[in-house]
Amino acid sequence: MKDIKIESTLTVYEDYNELPKAVASLMDQAINIRLKAYAPYSEFLVGAAILLDNGEVITGNNQENASYPSGLCAERTAIYYAGANYPDAKIVMMAITAGSLKQPTNSPIPPCGACRQSISEYEVNQDSPIEIYFMGTSGKVVKSNSLANLLPLGFDRSFL
Ligand code: THU
Repeated sequence: MKDIKIESTLTVYEDYNELPKAVASLMDQAINIRLKAYAPYSEFLVGAAILLDNGEVITGNNQENASYPSGLCAERTAIYYAGANYPDAKIVMMAITAGSLKQPTNSPIPPCGACRQSISEYEVNQDSPIEIYFMGTSGKVVKSNSLANLLPLGFDRSFL
């Protein structure tokens, strides 16, 4: 018997203003789409913007439903649109921002487990890392160089 240690290194930016220009521009698009989220039940608005290697930017926000489980997170709304419309493009990076209408959201909001699994599918298929940046509405921004850093022991097609 032995233990295994799983380590991830993430980068933390003090705030939005520290981001490289291209990332700030993608985050701007995530912020814009967050403001259009349909989240009347949770009042928690999330926006995601994806940069593809062909230069296209795809955005998405959370879409809730009176039948709660029928709703979908912002990250999956965006990534499934990208997969549907640009199946041959690689995903370079994703910017995510979330904010509650009920309280300040000043800490970085990471993608949920189901979204990590969904993003992982595309990262594994394209065989190149997807950079993920996530924040609240203000405050620190966290960068992960790869989705894999956020999903240790991921389940992928190699097991099937
Ligand atoms: N949500 C996202 O859009 N992305 C996440 O990664 C976490 C949660 C949405 C789902 C739901 O509409 C609201 O936030 C509250 O969970």
